[in-house]
Amino acid sequence: MPITFDKSTGQFHLRNGNFSYIMRILENGCMGHVYLGARLREAAYPLLDIPFGGFSNNIQTPTRFEYPGGGNGDFRQSAFDLRFAHSGAGLAEPCYKGHRIYGGKKAIPGLPATYCEDDAEAETLEVDLEDGPSGLRFRLYYTVFRDYNCLARHTCVINGGTDTVYLENTMSLSLDLPDSRWNLITLTGAWAREFELNDAPLRVGFQGIASRRGVSGAQTNPALILRRPMTGEHEGEALGLSLVYSGNFKADIEVDQSDIARLRAGINNDTFCWELKPGASFDTPEAVLAWSRQGLNGLSRQYHELYRRRLARGPWRDRERPVLLNNWEGTYFNFTEAKILEMAQKARNLGAELFVLDDGWFGRRDDDRSSLGDWYPHPVKLPQGVKALAEKVCAQGIKFGLWIEPEMVNPDSDLFRAHPDWAVHIPGRFRTEQRNQYVLDMGRPEIVDHLFSVLSGIIGGAPISYIKWDMNRYITEPFGLGLPPERQGEFFHRYVLGLYDLYGRLTGAFPDILFESCSSGGARFDPGILGFAPQGWLSDDTDGLERLAIQEGASLVYPLSSMGAHVSAVPNHQTGRLSPLSFRGMTAFFGCLGYELDPAQFSTEEEGAVKRQIEFYKAHRRCFQQGRFYRLLSSLPGRTGINGPYPQEARYAAWMTVLGSEAIVGVYKLLTNPNRRPFRLKLAGLDPAAQYRVDVWDGGDFEEEDRRLNRGIRGGDELMQAGLLLECNTALRHGDFFSELFILEQLKN
Ligand code: GLA
Repeated sequence: MPITFDKSTGQFHLRNGNFSYIMRILENGCMGHVYLGARLREAAYPLLDIPFGGFSNNIQTPTRFEYPGGGNGDFRQSAFDLRFAHSGAGLAEPCYKGHRIYGGKKAIPGLPATYCEDDAEAETLEVDLEDGPSGLRFRLYYTVFRDYNCLARHTCVINGGTDTVYLENTMSLSLDLPDSRWNLITLTGAWAREFELNDAPLRVGFQGIASRRGVSGAQTNPALILRRPMTGEHEGEALGLSLVYSGNFKADIEVDQSDIARLRAGINNDTFCWELKPGASFDTPEAVLAWSRQGLNGLSRQYHELYRRRLARGPWRDRERPVLLNNWEGTYFNFTEAKILEMAQKARNLGAELFVLDDGWFGRRDDDRSSLGDWYPHPVKLPQGVKALAEKVCAQGIKFGLWIEPEMVNPDSDLFRAHPDWAVHIPGRFRTEQRNQYVLDMGRPEIVDHLFSVLSGIIGGAPISYIKWDMNRYITEPFGLGLPPERQGEFFHRYVLGLYDLYGRLTGAFPDILFESCSSGGARFDPGILGFAPQGWLSDDTDGLERLAIQEGASLVYPLSSMGAHVSAVPNHQTGRLSPLSFRGMTAFFGCLGYELDPAQFSTEEEGAVKRQIEFYKAHRRCFQQGRFYRLLSSLPGRTGINGPYPQEARYAAWMTVLGSEAIVGVYKLLTNPNRRPFRLKLAGLDPAAQYRVDVWDGGDFEEEDRRLNRGIRGGDELMQAGLLLECNTALRHGDFFSELFILEQLKN
């Protein structure tokens, strides 16, 4: 996995067993980009790049840079923009000064990032660049991992001069690809329909995504995925760019007239400006590039493995996650202690391991109009307090978890009445409410200290095993009361730093508590938060069919172990749809399973079915949460590339996960049709030389369908090359949303 430097050509070659990343010191001292792709041998590659001696008499030369500024002849979007306080000038030309190569990876101060547990897992290159006239230095960090086809980059700007500098833009990375023959995939959406997948060819000009909401947002997830036009799920080249950040970000691509595609990702410079005094430094968030030539599944697996093992932290990173029951959709705000105890008891009897008390347990909160900020027990609903309730729940043989929304305050709250200035606002202006609430300014240390002290009191004062950390609005009227006018551009990033500080302090103080992030569902489901909370609530949409699409989109980047997935009641509260319990369960199995309903409403049959689901999930959850995941058939029309006038499999979605000798395939029929055509579902990720025992699990809702045919001992080659046989008994009329699981066990030779 070495990183080498060839003095004669000035080339740096970063590589692991599968991919290479090459850059070099250009003739004028700037860093140029040479190559990113399949691994090349150790050698100098002079033909991969053109010489570049500077822009003088060469303006607009199609050069590929590593960290370009503007103002000197490169007219594309730049990696950094700045202004010197005294002169007002905005040009810096960072040139190579030196470098270091070492085993392992350093932490980024104040920011979550990927890491190593052993220095042998990764190698890091630090390249020092300096702008001679100003003394401004840029340190570019590159870490290449031995076991993942991933390259982590970030930038540190150090003011080594005598003038204050205003950083108006400091991207985490910039990357100039030699051609634009790619499709760009982004994950966009809105509340309850997060992770919608867009896939369109790159075109000349400017395209990208950004957030100005204070959080990454349900509208845009901070990732860009490129695939070659012929790349599918299993084959072909794909390149990913994922930003480890939870605030305002930008990720974009500019295709220029020379067909160079410039990718950038970092803090959104539209809402950013950072004052850098002489001697001070600024670290950007980390951006993680991933590369694969095994299609989008191959690319996703790089992110899944790296993020699950070396971004998520703490004891819960590797632990099997508990099956939980959350009361939100079961009761909303309307509950009593007796009702909660009844739900917890029933959850325990069903086999759940954790009961989660959601919103409404504190202050005088009987609806969403009051009490955020007042983190003491609701005197009517919890007359004996959180501790007494948690102890009673635990005494029933199930663990207890609690919902909080630390960053928020309602105007109708004791906290707001005591500290109206703590809520983000511009003095003298109207304060916009969203869900009747304001945002606390997490950029102010006294607010973070207050939250830490109040929340650690609650969490430490009761037997709490799990915290759901919510964040239910975006930031308006951005303004830092503690910041002078020339530093207001720091407001949003300081918010994120304060948030990370609080997350770090609470998760550090309570390492055994499982933290699940949430932001009205998936509005802050990003790699930054994953660095603190190993799982997150993916979406408030719990409809099984919708969830197929949401989980599929999220799985482009995020591992199954990070996805909270719940079974809820029908008619579904978000869509009104009726779907079988087995369908809802088998969708939620591919993630961290929970139930979000009132178990007292179950019929005897449903109770039996849920017991069987939980028992089944527990027996296989390591495979569901930690297995190698494959998207086999998409629920999104046309995504899997199925051709033909009326293809039967276009009515299906299918997923698969493989761990050790076990594999599980989930098959989901969407809308059914009469007189169906049989079809083959080809599996992936098996050992072609091995034999597998194939069994079927249908959750007990339906008659057996394909059980007899597919059951038995099958070769890995047969299962991958020919596939399982589906829809061979057209006499069966299951209706819509039929689902079944195939369980594969690899036999010992
Ligand atoms: C958000 C969350 C839900 C629930 C409610 C409570 O919408 O996404 O899961 O916790 O808040 O108010």
